[in-house]
Amino acid sequence: MSIRNAVIPVAGLGTRLLPATKSQPKEMLPVGKKPIVQYIVEELHRCGLERVLFVTGRGKSSIEDHFDDDPDLIRTLRETGKEDLLQELEYERLGVHFLYTRQRRQRGLGDAVLCAEHFTGTEPFVVALGDSIIGRHKPSPIVKRLMDAFEKHDADCAIAVEQVPLSQVSMYGVVKPASNDDVFEITDLVEKPRREEAPSNWAIAGRYVFAPGIFDAIKRTSFDHRNELQLTDAIRLTLREGKKIVGVRLPAEEKRYDIGNFESYFETFVEFALTDPEFGPQLRKHVKELFGENL
Ligand code: G1P
Repeated sequence: MSIRNAVIPVAGLGTRLLPATKSQPKEMLPVGKKPIVQYIVEELHRCGLERVLFVTGRGKSSIEDHFDDDPDLIRTLRETGKEDLLQELEYERLGVHFLYTRQRRQRGLGDAVLCAEHFTGTEPFVVALGDSIIGRHKPSPIVKRLMDAFEKHDADCAIAVEQVPLSQVSMYGVVKPASNDDVFEITDLVEKPRREEAPSNWAIAGRYVFAPGIFDAIKRTSFDHRNELQLTDAIRLTLREGKKIVGVRLPAEEKRYDIGNFESYFETFVEFALTDPEFGPQLRKHVKELFGENL
């Protein structure tokens, strides 16, 4: 059966991006011309996903507004001779069906995914984290490769992974690959390990495919020291019970942009803006004029 459902968790508070996230979701921060979440929806649409469930929280309603039709705006653009700007709203017509549910308390990524149980039912589904863009202006087909690997290997879970410096493993879920192949079996995984305990430097990159059995595993997973239910811990539980988990490596040209803090957000914005097909050349010239050799 082809996979048609995707879940985008966007309930996180974004405290590492204050004050920018005081009254707007971090997933709505712009990267170049578009808010982060639009890149993710476009990525999922290109991979054939038809239904998207956002797991939202307090203060996230602008995400719903962004994907909603706005007849007043369209009328105003027409009446004021700005029809050409209508093309900027084409993403509204992708044909993706959106649903929204709320994670009522901040109890971790595992708990956010559990909120999707009644949406996906007995079908396998994709999870795409709302603060990660994969690929620059052309969205990556990693989710398609994950779905293919999930089906081909009759797996219970498929996870995208990327190589990170050892000094950063404590920021991620980290997997232990069974081979050096592009698609490999995962023999262990740990959420945010200390450097000396990390099973490798292959980090979970924010895209997953799950069989519905993950919900039962999340319900049987213990809360961690921060009183959160970690998705990685639930996957580890299923692995220990004999389920098959495969990893799919992200190639360098499908780099992941993590918008979790200002350092990575600024880097991402600058890279997207400087390489924008329309505005990039002028911006690069401007930056050179500003900083010259001092850059
Ligand atoms: C989450 C996951 C982690 C993964 C990371 C990717 O962590 O728990 O396993 O590696 O996303 O961005 P978070 O960034 O929400 O702390």
